[in-house]
Amino acid sequence: MPAPEATRVMVTGALGQIGTDLVEELRRMHGNENVLATDIRELPDHTGVTNGPFELLSVLDTDAMDSLVKEYDITKIFHLGAILSVTGEQNPKLCKKINVGGTVSVLETAKNNNLQVYAPSSIAVFGPDTPKHAPQITPLNPTTTYGKTKVTGENLINEYWKKHGVDARGLRYPGLISWKSPAGGGTTDYAVEIFNAALNQGHYDCFVRPNTKLPMMYMDDAIRATLDLMNSPIKKIGKSRAGYNVSGLSFTAQELVDAIKDKVDGFTCNFIPDVRQNYADSWPDSVNDASAKKDWGWEAEYDLGKIVDSMIEGLSK
Ligand code: SER
Repeated sequence: MPAPEATRVMVTGALGQIGTDLVEELRRMHGNENVLATDIRELPDHTGVTNGPFELLSVLDTDAMDSLVKEYDITKIFHLGAILSVTGEQNPKLCKKINVGGTVSVLETAKNNNLQVYAPSSIAVFGPDTPKHAPQITPLNPTTTYGKTKVTGENLINEYWKKHGVDARGLRYPGLISWKSPAGGGTTDYAVEIFNAALNQGHYDCFVRPNTKLPMMYMDDAIRATLDLMNSPIKKIGKSRAGYNVSGLSFTAQELVDAIKDKVDGFTCNFIPDVRQNYADSWPDSVNDASAKKDWGWEAEYDLGKIVDSMIEGLSK
């Protein structure tokens, strides 16, 4: 029997919040040299991503992407380069260009080189008409430009799968909480910023109301969900391949503040809602992830207490 083909992975947006953690885990699994990190930004010295190959890449440059895939003999792409909701509302044209254009580049490159693709979706695909506990299958009418680009991304994945057999898959990520790399430009960033502020200033001005409740997930769970989805045999991947709901946990901003107060003496928080409140209000409180559980066995591990402990320990290093 011929030896199975080695997995060689390319990651776009590798210096971002998810990329930093995902590259580390992929390199642990496949070997440093088999994971090509790419980003539009220059590689800074102080990141874990320096332990393997890195190339500058714009996700809009399909020719450059194709060349790198051939040069490094890539077998799958994790496409994380994107503009999040807050930056997207400030610059909708850029958001559409990067998020939709980047996904098309990746899917075209995958089609031409027979690659597997991971391209994430988001809870931002839901809108004000979604039930507060979001079903897997429901009309998708987001109000943010970011959410609209993610709906388009899911449609593109389904199109390339049906028409060209491209094995692309995605998760609807909730707000992701991690300490290795800062979040940036998202509505759910308060759930990350609050930890840095608590430890450094002892105070946080939170930009959503205390009763704001959103689906969230610790990064370790998100990385495991991503890899479990991608490593599942194709026969287990059902109709939701382009955007599986995955639940971690849900808490209000006040519950998060209270959990941090239990661990950080003297921590105070003011609530000063701004325009980001509107984006948060348009998203559901929680998601129904029965399909992910049934199709490929998803189960979250981190509850709020475990997240608070891990964040404080990680950021204190
Ligand atoms: N975390 C993202 C944001 O807030 C949602 O996917 O924009």
